[in-house]
Amino acid sequence: MCALQHVDSPERGVILLDKSLRVTYANQRVCEILGTAIDRLIGEGLPEVVDHRSLDEDEVLEEVLDSPLGKDAVLHRYSSPVYSRDGWIAGRVEIYSDITARRRLEQDILDRNLELAELNSRLEEAQEQLIQSERLRALGEMAAGIAHDINNVLGIILGNVQLARRKLDEDSPAMKSIQGIELAARDAAETVRRLREIGKPVDTSRYAPVDLGEIVRDVVDATIAAWKESRSVGAAQVTVETTLEPDCVVWGNSVEFREALANILLNAAQAVESRGKIEVSTSRDAEYAYLTVSDTGIGMSEETKKRLLDPFFTTRGAEGTGLGMSMVDAIAIRHGGKVVVTSEEGKGASVALRIPVLRARE
Ligand SMILES: Nc1ncnc2c1ncn2[C@@H]1O[C@H](COP(=O)(O)OP(=O)(O)OP(=O)(O)O)[C@@H](O)[C@H]1O
Ligand SMILES: [Mg+2]
Repeated sequence: MCALQHVDSPERGVILLDKSLRVTYANQRVCEILGTAIDRLIGEGLPEVVDHRSLDEDEVLEEVLDSPLGKDAVLHRYSSPVYSRDGWIAGRVEIYSDITARRRLEQDILDRNLELAELNSRLEEAQEQLIQSERLRALGEMAAGIAHDINNVLGIILGNVQLARRKLDEDSPAMKSIQGIELAARDAAETVRRLREIGKPVDTSRYAPVDLGEIVRDVVDATIAAWKESRSVGAAQVTVETTLEPDCVVWGNSVEFREALANILLNAAQAVESRGKIEVSTSRDAEYAYLTVSDTGIGMSEETKKRLLDPFFTTRGAEGTGLGMSMVDAIAIRHGGKVVVTSEEGKGASVALRIPVLRARE
């Protein structure tokens, strides 16, 4: 131990202990760090804040402990046995460092990293939104061109259908074919209308505060009534529940929100295949209002979830145009929002419109 009796450091606290763990030496710095006086340490065991009960004789220990000086201060303790020349354990040397500043710096770096990650994810979201609206713009241009040409053709078909109808008797065998042509042409006209809706530019002149709860109230009953009338889905056994949170107010075009909800609802009704439950709800947090439709239907595969918003993607064969969710997506994007989907195959689906909430100052 003699050789160690001059160990000192202005930065670090040093304590020497004899074999029975009594303090034989302590420097000034350790007194500052442990908040005690040299004469209270010498000849005593280590102060209470330092746990030395479970130390094995030859154990080397490194630990971080709360400083007795409080205020979130932290200490680093290094404790090692000291051997005599003939190899016997003569006592221990303990070195204490105040690592509070380092810890704060580390915490600071962690906080900054979190902030950076948050900024990064916002940037990614903004980028994604930009790509989406660019995609929408390109699609809009294409849709407008196609819609124009197809509409011309449909006009000619429907005009000729009218002429043929006039020339035929109601019960003539060709009449059925003519009616078939007319129906198909009108369906095609509806598809063109939906395609045009997708590519429609943002028109904020019709924007006003919209309470999403009102949209739900307007659309749900009317939609169920329409299903029952058209028998397009087995609406009789589908139950629709609504849960509305107050103040889900956004800035936008209520006609578009109605159209979006009607599309999402119809998909849900088709997914539950005449028996099941649909829940329509509105909710909000500080930034967004949500209009959510959850169903207990067939759910979506990973592939379907990935392609859900693609124009013309449908799993319903000739019965679907695959434009419903593209319209919903376009409406969400025009309102600075997005479509959020959670679903598992066989376990129902939840499709939400997430739109920035209207703040009081806007
Ligand atoms: N709630 C849902 N549950 C399960 N699958 C869904 C649901 N909503 C949409 N899908 C899937 O997404 C596909 C695309 O939906 P989208 O509304 O765009 O087109 P569609 O319903 O097939 O055709 P359309 O809307 O023209 O009648 C559907 O074919 C279906 O596979
Ligand atoms: Mg649909």
